[in-house]
Amino acid sequence: MLSKKIIDRINLQINREMFSAFLYMEMSARMSDDGYKGIGTWMMTQYHEEMFHAMKFYGYLQSQGALPSIGKIDAPEVKAKTIKEIFEATLAHEKFVSASIRELLELAIAEKDYATEDLVRWYVGEQVEEEQNAIDILQTIDLMGENKQGLFMLNIELGKRKPSIALDFTGMP
Ligand code: FEO
Repeated sequence: MLSKKIIDRINLQINREMFSAFLYMEMSARMSDDGYKGIGTWMMTQYHEEMFHAMKFYGYLQSQGALPSIGKIDAPEVKAKTIKEIFEATLAHEKFVSASIRELLELAIAEKDYATEDLVRWYVGEQVEEEQNAIDILQTIDLMGENKQGLFMLNIELGKRKPSIALDFTGMP
């Protein structure tokens, strides 16, 4: 049985994961509108990954007899204009999410809630991967500098990204 503190904190995390999904959907729209359809696809794949993160927590609450509660999700704001700025914003956002996941892990440990701790450790590993993805792309962008052909190729390469997770959330858990 989960404590109210843990349920509330997981619900906050669901909200943050859904906000992340909408943020990347907005970035996807911007990139596609600018003609970078490959980066738009990469961002839309990220949208699906974030929805999966939210739904994994949602399913966990249900499996423990607790009620998921979505709450109000803020509208995403995308100020980034260039591709480099878009991925800098992605990295900054993922660092925020990593800190939020660590906070949830610390709460689970403090409450001796080992089941939740086990679940949240999966997200810790996932965050390492998410930050690494943005770092790798930023390094490539830095190496290319102003090279337009490089950007063209990067756009094609990023457009090959496919979701690594289930997209159908019916029946969860
Ligand atoms: Fe679910 Fe990108 O953190």
